[in-house]
Amino acid sequence: MTNAEVIALGKENYMKNYSQFPLAIKGGKGMYLFDEDGKSYLDFVAGIAVNALGYGDEDEKKALLEVLDSGVLHTSNLYYNSKAVQAAKLINEIAGSSQVFFCNSGAEANEAAIKMARKRGSAKGKSTVISFNHSFHGRTYGAVTITGQDKYHKGFSPMLPDVVYADFNDIDSVRKLMNDRVAAVIVEPLQGEGGIIPADAGFLSALRSLCDEYDALLVFDEVQCGMGRTGKPFCFQNYSVTPDIMTLAKAIGGGLPLGAAVAFEKAVDIFSPGDHAATFGGNVASCALACVVLSKLEALSGNARVNGMYLKEKLEEIAGKYPDKVTQARGMGFMQGLELKVPVKDVVLQCMEKGLLVCSAGANVLRFVPPLIASADDIDKAASIVAQVMGGM
Ligand SMILES: Cc1ncc(COP(=O)(O)O)c(C=O)c1O
Repeated sequence: MTNAEVIALGKENYMKNYSQFPLAIKGGKGMYLFDEDGKSYLDFVAGIAVNALGYGDEDEKKALLEVLDSGVLHTSNLYYNSKAVQAAKLINEIAGSSQVFFCNSGAEANEAAIKMARKRGSAKGKSTVISFNHSFHGRTYGAVTITGQDKYHKGFSPMLPDVVYADFNDIDSVRKLMNDRVAAVIVEPLQGEGGIIPADAGFLSALRSLCDEYDALLVFDEVQCGMGRTGKPFCFQNYSVTPDIMTLAKAIGGGLPLGAAVAFEKAVDIFSPGDHAATFGGNVASCALACVVLSKLEALSGNARVNGMYLKEKLEEIAGKYPDKVTQARGMGFMQGLELKVPVKDVVLQCMEKGLLVCSAGANVLRFVPPLIASADDIDKAASIVAQVMGGM
């Protein structure tokens, strides 16, 4: 099929909930994607922070072929499977956590976290969840309620009750909402969709203390910023703060749907049999890929740390050169943003035209979340295209 044919078929048959770019992806290799018409693109989107290993990774291919050879893609959670238990063990070893619940997406992982917090709180009269303005946690009802952005709520009322919003990086705003009825505080240690905004170290440690003082669970949503992206296997490891629950998705499944709610000490054994479930959670194929990504997490996060600093330098150079078009470069590792004074969509489209995929975060931030294999050379190429686009605007 051609790009035009794929796009026409999509427009004819899809619901209208996405505004998609005029590009149909056919294949990929390493850091590059190819469209249906044969044009190649250097990819700094990675399927929105998903494809950590880039495209065509041989170990992923081998792992999937092994699963196909076994004849079983799915077992249900009536039974165990070796891929899911190994993936859970790797998460617990690397994160220092104790128990894992597998699901299929970030929203579902956050639903599990909310239910855990409310279940634990139910005997203590605790049901309130404190979340943050500008946060993003997904689109199912619980996840979208804890998402602190009105635009995602509009038209969908009523939302889940007992959810309140504080200001990110403002501990006094949390203190004002904190009381004995609070079951959990949920926060992205590095806000993604809200515009690539890192948490201050002091803010996260103050949140930890407040949660301890009021016996509330501290939940870190690492759906986007976890899995090596910020230069450590998990984002919280950049801070001296450990959550009680961490939620994961995106990169963990190596491109297949997989999410996880991960319990640390204070959150173990909250669920009993029958409390929560997901038919596909812990799916054999997704977990086989998770084992590949998790086994490479140390190296991937090392690359994100070193080359992420280089990416940031290059973006700061662009910000310095075009102060009339760029407000600021910010981020951690391979999760970087350029806050723009010019329309982000125009920049995204012009970069695409020149063979670079980037995307937006929030209203005015250009987001860079490449596969975690990106090299200095890839960064030079991407930065040169962004600089050309800025220069021409
Ligand atoms: C921090 C965060 N949490 C949750 C989600 C929702 O994940 P999913 O789209 O897999 O449900 C996202 C998606 O962008 C995210 O960035």
